[in-house]
Amino acid sequence: MKDPAGQIEQLSEELRHHEHRYYVLDAPLITDAEYDALMRRLQTLETQHPELLTPDSPTQRVGGKPRDGFIKVLHSSSLLSLDNALNEGELRDFDRRVRDLLGGAPYRYVTELKLDGLSMAAHYRDGKFSQAITRGDGTVGEDVTENARTIRSLPLRVKSPLPSFEVRGETVMSRHAFERLNAGRDEKGLSRFANPRNAAAGSLRQLEPRVTAERRLEYYTYYLLTEGRPAFDSHWRAIEELRHLGFKVEPNSKICQTIDEVIDLCNGWEGQREALPYDIDGVVVKVDSVEQQRQLGFTAKAPRWAIAYKYPARQATTTVEAIEVQVGRTGALTPVACLKPVEVGGVTVSRATLHNEDEIARLGLEIGDEVVVERSGDVIPKVVRVSSQGSYRKPFRLPSQCPVCGGKVVREAGEAASRCINANCPARLKESLLHFASRGVMNIDGMGEALVDQLVDRGTVRSVADLYDLQLADLVSLERMGAKSAAKVIRNIDHSRQNALPRVITSLGIRFVGERTAIFLADAFGSLDAIENASLEELQLAEEVGPKVAEAVVQYFSEPGNRELVGRLRTAGLQFHYAPHRPAAGPLQGKTLVITGTLPTLSRDEARQLIEQAGGKVSSAVSKKTSYVVVGEDAGSKLVKARELGINTLTEDELRALAAAG
Ligand code: IVH
Repeated sequence: MKDPAGQIEQLSEELRHHEHRYYVLDAPLITDAEYDALMRRLQTLETQHPELLTPDSPTQRVGGKPRDGFIKVLHSSSLLSLDNALNEGELRDFDRRVRDLLGGAPYRYVTELKLDGLSMAAHYRDGKFSQAITRGDGTVGEDVTENARTIRSLPLRVKSPLPSFEVRGETVMSRHAFERLNAGRDEKGLSRFANPRNAAAGSLRQLEPRVTAERRLEYYTYYLLTEGRPAFDSHWRAIEELRHLGFKVEPNSKICQTIDEVIDLCNGWEGQREALPYDIDGVVVKVDSVEQQRQLGFTAKAPRWAIAYKYPARQATTTVEAIEVQVGRTGALTPVACLKPVEVGGVTVSRATLHNEDEIARLGLEIGDEVVVERSGDVIPKVVRVSSQGSYRKPFRLPSQCPVCGGKVVREAGEAASRCINANCPARLKESLLHFASRGVMNIDGMGEALVDQLVDRGTVRSVADLYDLQLADLVSLERMGAKSAAKVIRNIDHSRQNALPRVITSLGIRFVGERTAIFLADAFGSLDAIENASLEELQLAEEVGPKVAEAVVQYFSEPGNRELVGRLRTAGLQFHYAPHRPAAGPLQGKTLVITGTLPTLSRDEARQLIEQAGGKVSSAVSKKTSYVVVGEDAGSKLVKARELGINTLTEDELRALAAAG
C-alpha cells in the first residue's frame, strides 16, 4: 500500500484522465458511478490528510466561496474582436486584401466554427491553472477564476514544458444544458434565459461558484500564448498543441488552401449548424502562418489576418393567428402561438412557444399582432417581440378549465405556470408516460410519442403502472407496430424492472426531483418506503434537499392517487430498495451514525463520506438502532433524543479518530 501522498497523487491522476475522456473527448472509459467512487475515495483521503490538499485537486472544482463582486484585471494583450463578412463577396474581398498585403507569397487558412459564447482567457503557471479572466472591454476583464474552475473541460493541471502560458477560448452552454436550465427555472417560477449565450454569461458571472458548477459550462480553446504572443509559428500547430495539452478544441476546424474551399465550407455549415450541440453564429477564417499574421497586422480593433463569416440571424416577421394551449406532465399549461407559416433560415415555422401568461404580458402580445420569430438551434421557435399591433387584435386569457380534460386550472402564488390539477388528465398522463420511459429515467426504448398517444387514446393505459400489465396482444393491434417491435417493447418494459431505485424515484415525476436529487434521496433513505414515510425535517437531511424539495416530496405522497401508483409499481416488481456501493469492512462496519448540528470543519457530505468509507452507515433519525450521534454546534432535538435513549455521542475529532482506527 502506498503512503497517503502517493495514493492521493495516483487517484488524482486517474481522475484527471477520466475527466479528460469524459468532458473533453466525450469518450468516457468508466461509468459515472465508478467515477464518483474514485472521487469519493480521493475526498476521503483528503479529509483525513488535509495537509495534502491542493487547489488543483480534482475535488476542488467547487471550493470557492461566494463573493461580493469581481476584481478587474488587465489582459496580457488585448482580446480583439473580428471584422465580419456577411456574404461571399465580402469573404473574397478579405482574401484579396490578404493576398495583396502578402505580396504574392503562398498562404493558407484555418477555419473554425464560431461558437456563440463568451471569450475568456485562462492562465497556467507551472502546469497549473492559475487565473481566468473574462473578455470585458478587451483590455480589462473580470477575474472569474473560481467560477472557471468549475468548468470540467478546463484542465486544472496540464503537462507542459512551458513555465507559464495563456489560452483563450469561448465559454459556452450546450443547447441541451440550456433547455434543462430553463425547464428547471420554469418549474421554480424564475424568468427564462433568452438563449444559451445569455445563460452562459449569467452563469460565468455568478457570485457563487456553486451555481456556476451546476450550469454545465464548457470551454473551447482557440488560442495559445506565451508572454502575450502566439506560442507557435502556425495557428494549426497551436490548436493541435492545445488538444494535446488536454484542452477542448472545437472538432470541426479545417485547413483550407483557397478562398473557394473556405466559401464551400461556410455554405456547408450553414445548413448543418442545427445538428451541432451548441449554437454557432458563423465561421472564423484565420491566416495560418503566424509570421504572415504579423505582416498583416491589425486595424484599430481587429486583426487583418482573420475574419468572421457571420450567418444571417434566423428571424422572420409573421402574424399570430391564434394562441393554443398545451398541457404538460406536471399539468402546466403552455400557450403556443399559431403563426401564419413563414420561412426562418430555411425551415417553415408555424408554431412558437410563448411559455406562460407572464411572457405574453411581457411581450404585450395579442392575437392578430405581427411578431418577430427566431429560431436558434433545434429548439422550438420563439416570439422575440411584437413588431406591429394588428388592426383586429384580441387579448388572450388562459382558460380556467383544462383544454384536454376540463379539470380545474390553478395558478399558485409565486409561480409562472398555471396547472391543471386533475391527476388523471390524459394530457398529463401522456407526458408522464414519456417521462417515465425516457432515457435517463426508466429507459424503455420504443416507448415514443406515437405509441403513447395510441395507448392513452384507446384507454389501454390509464396509469403509468398499466405499462407493466401490457401484453403482446395489446401492442400488435396498434398502428405502425409489427410483431417484432411489439415484442421488443414488452421486453424493454420487463427489463426496466431492474432499474435501480434512483431511477424509480425520478420516474415518479415529483416536482424538483431530478436524477441528481433522486440519488441523494436514495442514498439517504435506502428505500422508497422510507422516503414515502419521511417527515419534512427528515427529508431535509438528504444532501441538497431543502424545504422546497422536501415539501414537494411530502405533497406528492399525500395524494392518495400517487400512493396507489407507487403501490402498483411495487407489485410490478420495481426496485424499491437501494444498497449504494459501500465498503463492508472498516472500523465503523455495522455501525449506524446520525449527524446533527454544524461540525467544526467537515461538511455534512464530507462527514457522511468519512463514515461510509470507514464502513459505517449514516441515518437521518435517532433510534435505538443508532450507534453514535455525531454532534456539532447548534445541535437540536436529535441530541436530546440521543440523551434520552442513552446513545453515545461523538465530536468531529472523535469521529475522525474512530474512522481512522484499525
Ligand atoms: S479569434 C484576434 N476564434 O468571436 C483573435 N474568436 O467576433 C480574435 N469567437 O471575441 C478572436 N469562436 O469571442 C476567435 N474560433 C474562434 C472563435 C472566436 C468564437 C468569438 C470570440 C471573439 C468574437 C469575435
